[in-house]
Amino acid sequence: MIAAQLLAYYFTELKDDQLKKIDKYLFSMRFSDDTLKDIMNRFRREMENGLGRDTSPTATVKMLPTFVRSIPDGSEKGDFIALDLGGSNFRILRVKVTQDKKQPVQMESQVYETPDDIIHGSGSQLFAHVADCLGDFMEKQKIKDKKIPVGFTFSFPCAQTKLDEAVLVTWTKKFKASGVEGMDVVNLLNKAIQKRGDYEADIMAVVNDTVGTMMTCGFDDQRCEVGIIIGTGTNACYMEELRHIDQVEGDEGRMCINTEWGAFGDDGSLEDLRTEFDREIDRGSINPGKQLFEKMASGMYMGELVRLILVKMAKEGLLFEGRITPELLTKGKIETKHVSAIEKSKEGLKKCMETLTRLGVEPSDEDCLAVQHVCTIVSFRSANLIASTLGGILARLKDNKGVGRLRTTVGIDGSLYKMHPQYEKMCSGMYLGEIVRQILIDLTKRGFLFRGQISETLKTRGIFETKFLSQIESDRLALLQVRAILQQLGLAGTCDDSIIVKEVCGTVSRRAAQICGAGMAAVVDKIRENRGLDHLDITVGVDGTLYKLHPHFSRIFQQTVKELAPKCDVNFLLSEDGSGKGAALITAVGCRQRELVAQQQH
Ligand code: GLC
Repeated sequence: MIAAQLLAYYFTELKDDQLKKIDKYLFSMRFSDDTLKDIMNRFRREMENGLGRDTSPTATVKMLPTFVRSIPDGSEKGDFIALDLGGSNFRILRVKVTQDKKQPVQMESQVYETPDDIIHGSGSQLFAHVADCLGDFMEKQKIKDKKIPVGFTFSFPCAQTKLDEAVLVTWTKKFKASGVEGMDVVNLLNKAIQKRGDYEADIMAVVNDTVGTMMTCGFDDQRCEVGIIIGTGTNACYMEELRHIDQVEGDEGRMCINTEWGAFGDDGSLEDLRTEFDREIDRGSINPGKQLFEKMASGMYMGELVRLILVKMAKEGLLFEGRITPELLTKGKIETKHVSAIEKSKEGLKKCMETLTRLGVEPSDEDCLAVQHVCTIVSFRSANLIASTLGGILARLKDNKGVGRLRTTVGIDGSLYKMHPQYEKMCSGMYLGEIVRQILIDLTKRGFLFRGQISETLKTRGIFETKFLSQIESDRLALLQVRAILQQLGLAGTCDDSIIVKEVCGTVSRRAAQICGAGMAAVVDKIRENRGLDHLDITVGVDGTLYKLHPHFSRIFQQTVKELAPKCDVNFLLSEDGSGKGAALITAVGCRQRELVAQQQH
C-alpha cells in the first residue's frame, strides 16, 4: 500500500515537473489573451481588405461572394443529389426534403475513395472519377433515368459570378490535380458526365463546405448566419451586407461570403506568431507559402506538428533518452487522430504509450506525460486561433447590425471539431439540465411560466445542457441575456419567466452541490473519527466539468462541507487532466504524501 502511495506521489511530482518543462519549451505556442485579441483585430483588417474594391485584388483573405443570398426558410422541399468533394471523404448523398414535421430531411449516402494518384493527377482524370462515382450512385439508387438536381459541395476557394459557376482560384489541402485552377468546375464535371453519356445531371449550385454547413444549420435555426469547418482544412463563411461587398452590384440585402480564412497570414501578417515548426510544415507541404493560418490550426497538419516537436525534443535529449528512430523521422507517422486519442482523459496515456511504442522510441512513463502535454498545447493553440478569427467575424456582424450585443447561431462541422476530445468536453450534457427541464414543464403546466404553453422545445430531452445552466446562473449575466439564451433554445418568454428560470437553475445546482458536499462531509468526518482525532487536515482532489466550469458549484460545495464537517479543514485541489477518477485519486494521494514528507523534514 505504502509503495503504491509513494509511487503515486512520485508520479504527481514528476508530472508537475514535466509539464512545467514543456510549457517553457513551447512558450511560443501559448498565446495570451492580448495576443488573441490582437489576432482578432488583424483578421478584421484582412476581412476589410478582401471586401474593398481597391484592396480585394491583392488581399490574402479572399472574402469570396457565394451568390447565396438567404438561409433556408423551412419551405424548401424536393429530391436532390449532393456531391461532397474536398473534405476528409468524397461522399455522394441523396437528400429528400419534405414538409413532414417529424423528419423533414431524409438522407442516404455513400463514401467513395479518392486515391492519391487521382487527386494529384490530371483534372480530367479527377472529374472522370467523380462522374463515374455519381453514375454508380445513381445506378444503385435506381434513378439513372431521371435528371435530379445536383448540388456540388466543392471545398476549395472559387470565384463565383453566379450560383452554378465556380472558377477554382487555387487548390488547397491535399489536392493538386493539373489543369483545374482558373477553370469552371461545373463545366469540367458536365463535360465528364457527357463523355460517359449514360445519365444526365443538372448541376444547380456549387457551394463551399462552410456554406453548406451554414445552410444545414440554418434549416433548423433561422438565426444561423455563420458556418465554420474545423477539419482537414479550416474556413468560415458568414452573411455580409451587400452594400459592403464592392465586387457585387447592389446595395440591398445580404450575401454569404466565403472568407477563406485558411490563407490568413500568407502576406506575412502572422510571422511573429509562427514557430520554427510551422515553417517546417510549410516547407514540406505541397503548397509552400500558402494557407499559413490553416497550417497552424487545422486537422491536416496537427499530427505532423506534434511529430516535428518530438523530433526536436528527442534530438536535444529531452525525450526518449535521445533515441531517434527512422519511424519518428518519417513524415505522417503521427496523425491527428493519434493526437486526439492521446488527449483523451481516461485512456490517453495508454494510447500515447502505444503510439510512441509503434515509433520504436521505447518511451518511459515520463515521456508519455510529456508527449501528452505537447499534444494539448498544439491543439489548444488551434482552438485559440480559430476562436480569434471567429471573434473577428462576430464583431463584424455586430457592427453591421449596429447592436450593442449580438445574438447569433454558428453552424460548425469538420472532423477535427467532432472527433477531438477537448472540444467535446465543453459541450457535454449532464443530468442537472434534465432536472431543470422537468421542473420548468411542471411550472408551465401550473401556469407559472411561458403563459402556460409547453413548447415543442421544452418537450425535447437534453435541451438544457450544463453549459447553459452555468451561463444562466452566472452572476454577470443580466436578465436580458438569460432571456436571450432562452430564446436561443426556442423558449421565448417574458422577463418574469427569465427570473423564474434563473431561480430554478440556481436551486437545482445548489441542491446538487449540497448533496455532494454532504456526502463529502460524511466521508471526511468518518476518516477523522477512525483516526481518533479531534481535528483533521485533509486534501481532496476534485475534477469534473461542473466543478470547473460552473460559476457557483465549487463555492457552494466547499461551503457545505465546511458547515457539515466543522472539525475538518478540507483543501480542494483541482485535478489537471479531465474527469478521470483515477487522476483525481492520484492527485489526492500524491498531495497527502507530499505533505507527509514535508512534515517529516521539519
Ligand atoms: C480549405 C479550403 C476551403 C474549405 C476548407 C475546409 O481551407 O480552401 O475552401 O472550406 O479547407 O474544408
